[in-house]
Amino acid sequence: MNLLAKSSPLRYLLLLALSLLLTLTSPLLPAVSQTDGGGSPFVVATEPTFPPFEMTDEATGTLTGFDIDLIQAVGTAAGLEVQIESLPFDGIIPALQSGTIQAAISGITITAERAQSVAFSSPYFKAGLAIAVREGNETIQSLEDLKGKKIAVQIGTTGAMEAAKIPGAEVVSFDSAALALQELVNRKVDAVINDGPVTLFAIKEAGLRGVKVAGESVTEEFYGIALPLARPGETNQNQALVNYGLFQIIADGKYKALYEKWFGAEPPFLPLVAPAMVGTQAALEQAQRGPREPFFITLFRNLIRGAGVTVLLTVFAVFFGLIGGTLAALALISPAKILQWLFRIYVEFFRGTPMLVQLFIIYFGLPGLFKELGMEWTLDRFPAAVIALSLNVAAYLAEIIRGGIQSVDPGQWEACQSLGMTPWQTLREVIFPQAFRRVLPPLGNEFITLIKDTSLTAVIGFSELFREGQLVVATTYKAFEVYIAVALVYLVLTTLSSIAFKALEHYMDPVGRAKKLATS
Ligand code: ARG
Repeated sequence: MNLLAKSSPLRYLLLLALSLLLTLTSPLLPAVSQTDGGGSPFVVATEPTFPPFEMTDEATGTLTGFDIDLIQAVGTAAGLEVQIESLPFDGIIPALQSGTIQAAISGITITAERAQSVAFSSPYFKAGLAIAVREGNETIQSLEDLKGKKIAVQIGTTGAMEAAKIPGAEVVSFDSAALALQELVNRKVDAVINDGPVTLFAIKEAGLRGVKVAGESVTEEFYGIALPLARPGETNQNQALVNYGLFQIIADGKYKALYEKWFGAEPPFLPLVAPAMVGTQAALEQAQRGPREPFFITLFRNLIRGAGVTVLLTVFAVFFGLIGGTLAALALISPAKILQWLFRIYVEFFRGTPMLVQLFIIYFGLPGLFKELGMEWTLDRFPAAVIALSLNVAAYLAEIIRGGIQSVDPGQWEACQSLGMTPWQTLREVIFPQAFRRVLPPLGNEFITLIKDTSLTAVIGFSELFREGQLVVATTYKAFEVYIAVALVYLVLTTLSSIAFKALEHYMDPVGRAKKLATS
């Protein structure tokens, strides 16, 4: 039967749901077509955890920084109605390629490699990478000294690219430079490679303690405003407008005033074209330097590696989660009131707060607390992830298992007692086997949720499946292909586990098995 046939009630239901959704969400849709007067807004993306270039003003909650002031001034000069939007740094170039934003200003270094995927304005800032180390470290002075060391970087940045070139170095990537620096403070890595002005600002203005800059300006870089590439044969009108605005504010002194406001110094001379782009042919060759392996090979290798980590994390978390969950379930139904209460609080806390927050507390928060108490204590990424995941799963499992145990008719306890069985014997031989069978379906749900939730550990720099995908996007800018592939791998993992759970359910079903035996 065709479920969507004209007269099918399902079809009406679907149409109804769709129209309801559209009417309910229309006020939430971006007001692109509703800008009264003037043209459509010029949407500029930024990753706003990069002070002093882009950050949120603590008092007002609005975006501020050198870049923000600059793009507003450029917009005014060029007659563009600038509207700023936040995006993760590694999402900026894909968003430019897909045309969801019109430009990006985010301390983006002009490189020949990026110029193959996006267009750049003329340079508006001269920067360079700096190596940050802990105070007292005298052994690291240059990129050379980083061989075989642990380095934290922000994903998709020139710092990350530089770190990737260092032989034997172990590179951990974070969503923001601030988290990478926090990692250094917490003694998890030896160094951070990040834009010099940002690291210096964190140390001097934001009060980042225990960190110093070892090698200042190990590279020379120029920031540009990024725009979508023009289609072949077309001129890039917005690029011309942005350049016009930029030259305008440089000429009329606004640029100088802004520079002085944010950096307390005279602006340096800016070239018309970034040196990285001079002699396009040479630059292109440099961009393609080294044996570049085909995209699909990179993708395949990274995703397989990530899937391995995801599975490993899941297995560990399930193992400890099951043990913890069972113990917690027993505590929840134990006659000891105090035990009941303690575990009730535990379950409510871990069920009632986002796992992302729990991860941050365990990984970034606890070391900070210990430090304030005068103790040096840190937790490695893997145990931190396993602990957070296990505590979380155990909280959910506790309730599931408790429900399973309590669903077994209490009369059975009495029966066992009259047979002379001890409570533990009763639990093990009579109650658990029945409860286990009943909790299998919700257990399967938990398992699948867990596989997907492991992706959250990417925030603490864990290279699991999702982060491996992000890392491929950060160097290839093929967001669609990569994320679809990542989704498919998750789907394979979850499908396999649901098949396994189904099989287990069959296997544990005494009635089904008895029938099979009878027929065979
Ligand atoms: N200049 C570096 C790059 O282009 C880092 C920029 C990071 N910007 C940011 N808003 N997080 O790769």
